[in-house]
Amino acid sequence: MARRAHTRPGHSPISAVCFAGLGDLAARELTPLIETEVKRTRIRNYDHLSFGVRAENLPRLRELRIVEDVLIDLGRLSKIERSADLARLGAIVSKDAVLAAVQAKNRFDDRRSGSRKTTTFACFVKQDKDRNLRRSEVSSKVEMLVAQQFPRWRCHDPAQLEIWVFWSGPATFAVRLTDEAFKYRGMKPPQREAALRPTLAAAMVAVANPREDEIVLDPMCGTGTLLLEGLAFNARAKFIGSDVSHDAIALAESRLGDQATLRIADALESLHDDPVDCILCNLPWGHQYSVSESLYRDLIGNFKRTLQPSGRMVLLTDQAQMLESAFTDSGVEWSREARVLVRGKWANIYKAHLRD
Ligand SMILES: C[S@@+](CC[C@H](N)C(=O)[O-])C[C@H]1O[C@@H](n2cnc3c(N)ncnc32)[C@H](O)[C@@H]1O
Repeated sequence: MARRAHTRPGHSPISAVCFAGLGDLAARELTPLIETEVKRTRIRNYDHLSFGVRAENLPRLRELRIVEDVLIDLGRLSKIERSADLARLGAIVSKDAVLAAVQAKNRFDDRRSGSRKTTTFACFVKQDKDRNLRRSEVSSKVEMLVAQQFPRWRCHDPAQLEIWVFWSGPATFAVRLTDEAFKYRGMKPPQREAALRPTLAAAMVAVANPREDEIVLDPMCGTGTLLLEGLAFNARAKFIGSDVSHDAIALAESRLGDQATLRIADALESLHDDPVDCILCNLPWGHQYSVSESLYRDLIGNFKRTLQPSGRMVLLTDQAQMLESAFTDSGVEWSREARVLVRGKWANIYKAHLRD
């Protein structure tokens, strides 16, 4: 069955994507902006979120920080199993629906005047598993329909108008409202390995929930992504970053200026004169760093000494066993807040706090 996108009257049907595993945190961030439930579907490396938003609130979706992309739905096919199922696509990828999506994109971009003329389009299919019907058959059908209805437009990648298909048995067809710059906050991604994706940093900050006047320290801050996302979350908290690498701190300074206190320091040595309220850190893991049980144990021991008695830590690593035994050895209480797929590896966001 083919269904044009619909949600409550006066609402726009929206899709959003975030890293696989961050769906709950992304849905929590959405709550103040929407009145509908958020449906989640895992599509390989991503969680696909579906919900409705009041049409007038559409531009506010630009404030979202955990999602990677925001799209407006054209419609949904209850199943795509064979070529014949694509025959019903015409009802979804119609001229009116595509033009309405282009207008929504201009509203999303808050373009009051001189809206950008669309001339190029492309379709990208994201699927949860391989199927008999090839993705290219679905994308070519969509592109053929658009070409028929907009003969002056060109099918090209990169394209101004992108139609994404989220295919997990049923398939949702949606027009991308965001661009590549959205997930990098309009800034050039820092040229350093292991630099954290801002959307994942935003998820960690949401777990840490920095409060006014709190001191938040990232003792292995690298390019400063967690500090930038912390400031975006609550600029009334005080952010401090340190790292053993001079290059990293120079990059962080170029991104943060004087919004945070930055210095060169070894996370295994004294980190801060006064106790801090929260330690927020993307620990060394992955192929760039050789990590060990003793390194993690020493780091947690030192973080513990640096925290206020009521202090908390929010940490990211894929070294679950190493960190969990370091927590246990140091007598801190901990919980896994999210399991997230990062560059093909499952890592965990942990929250830990000192026992009273
Ligand atoms: C996974 S990266 C953090 C990346 C950072 N979140 C970003 O967005 O750029 C780990 C960082 O730990 C730093 N590091 C490694 N050993 C350290 C130590 N003993 N003391 C302080 N920093 C250290 C590395 O230089 C690197 O920048």
